[in-house]
Amino acid sequence: MTDLREYAAAVETEWPDDADDLLRRHQESLFPSVGLFYDEPIELRRGERQYVYDGAGNQYLDFFGGIATVSSGHAIPEINDPIKEQLDRIIHSSTLFLIRSQIELAERLRAMTPPRLNKVFFTNSGTEANEAAFLITTLNRQSNELIALRHSYHGRSFATINASGQTPWRSSTLSPLHVHYVGNPYCYRCPWEKTYPECGLLCARDVEAMIRTTTSGQPAAFVAEPVQGVGGFITPPPEYFIRVKEILDRYGIPFISDEVQTAWGRLGVADWGFQAYGVEPDVVVFAKGLANGVPIGGVIATDELAGAIRSLSLSTFGGNPVATTAAMANLNYIATHNLRENARRVGGYLMGRLRELAERHPVIGDVRGMGLMVAVELVRDRATKEPAPDVLGRVQNEAKRRGLIIGRGGLHANVIRICPPLIVGERDVDDAIRILDDAFTVATSAL
Ligand SMILES: Cc1ncc(COP(=O)(O)O)c(C=O)c1O
Repeated sequence: MTDLREYAAAVETEWPDDADDLLRRHQESLFPSVGLFYDEPIELRRGERQYVYDGAGNQYLDFFGGIATVSSGHAIPEINDPIKEQLDRIIHSSTLFLIRSQIELAERLRAMTPPRLNKVFFTNSGTEANEAAFLITTLNRQSNELIALRHSYHGRSFATINASGQTPWRSSTLSPLHVHYVGNPYCYRCPWEKTYPECGLLCARDVEAMIRTTTSGQPAAFVAEPVQGVGGFITPPPEYFIRVKEILDRYGIPFISDEVQTAWGRLGVADWGFQAYGVEPDVVVFAKGLANGVPIGGVIATDELAGAIRSLSLSTFGGNPVATTAAMANLNYIATHNLRENARRVGGYLMGRLRELAERHPVIGDVRGMGLMVAVELVRDRATKEPAPDVLGRVQNEAKRRGLIIGRGGLHANVIRICPPLIVGERDVDDAIRILDDAFTVATSAL
C-alpha cells in the first residue's frame, strides 16, 4: 500500500475534502431518485485492494464492493495495466468491426458455461442484459408472458422494472411484458408461513400452479436470480431450482438465470449461481463484477434463442474493447488467484463470525448467504420479525465512522448486504466484526 499520509497530504493541499459542497451540487444537478448512503454522504476518491479512501484521506474496509461489482479489488495492477494499454491502443470501434478482446471473451464465457449455451450478446449493464434475455425468449415463444419471483430485481427499464417484485423500485407499471409473480423461496419470511424442509417446497410447487392457472400455458420464460440481490441476499434452499427446473422442462419453458450479482465465483462453491444449485439454464444474464467495475453486461444463450432476433440489433458500446479487455484481465486474476475458493473459505468464516455476533445482538434476526454474498436481516423483535430499517441506518453510519463500508437492501431496507471484493481475508473479517459489534452496540443503545 502507498503511504496514506502522503496521499492525505496531497489531497489536503491540492483537492480539499469538499463532501458537503459535492452533496449540495449532487442534489442540485442529479435526479432525486438517485439515493445516497449515510446521513453524511462521502466521496470515495481512491481505492486499493480491499480498501477505499474518502476526501479527507480516511481509510475504509470495503465490504460492499460498489454493489458486488468490484469483484477482485481496487486498483489491482494485473487488471488495470492491460486496461491502460488498451486505452492507449484504441478505446472504441463499434460492433461493426472485429474486436479481438470481445471475441476472446465470448469464447471464454462459452467455455465457462454448459455446451448448449453457445452465443453471446454484450451490453453495458445488467438492465440491458435482461432486456436482451426478455427479447429473445419472448420472440422465440411468441409470448410476452414472463414468470418472475416476488422480491426480485432485474433492472430499471420499463420491461425490467416490471419483472422486479419490489414496490419501492417499481416507478412505473407501463410494461411490454405480462409478468406473473410466484412466491419466493424466502425461508426466513416464508410466504406460506411454513418451515423448511417440512414445507415440501411449496414455493417451487407454486410455479406449476401459476403456469396452470394464470398463464396462457405458454409463457416465454421463467426468470430468477439464484440468490436475490437487491431483495436482501435471499438464499433459496438447495433443491429449489432443481424442483423448479423439473416443472419448467415439463412445460418447455426456458429458464433465464440472472447472474448479475452471483457470478464469477462470488458464491464460492461455483463460478455461477446456477451451478451452485445444480441446474442448467437456457439463458444466463451477467453484468456488474465481470470487469471489476468497468461497465459491461451481456447474455449467453442457446443457438435457438440467440437466433430468435431476425431483424438487425446492435449495442454501440456492447463488448467495447476497453470493457472486454478489462473483463479478460479480471477473469484471469480471479482464476490465477483462486478467488472463488477464497470466497468459499472466507465467506464461511464470515457467516460463522456473524452468527456469533447474532448471539450478542438480538436485533439480528437472520444471517444467510453463500460465499462472499452474505446478509444480516435486522428486526425489532425476533418473535414478530418486524423489520428494523432505522437501526440499520444507524449501524451503517456507525460502521462508516469506524472505517467499514457495508450495503443495505431488502424490501424493507432492513438487510445489511456484505459483498466485498473477493480478495478479502479472515483478518479483514475480524476487523469488520469488531467494528460491527461496536456499531450494533451504539445503534441499539437507544432502543
Ligand atoms: C440481479 C440484478 N439484475 C439486474 C440488475 C440491473 O443491473 P444494472 O444496474 O447494471 O442495470 C441488477 C442491479 O443491481 C441486479 O442486481
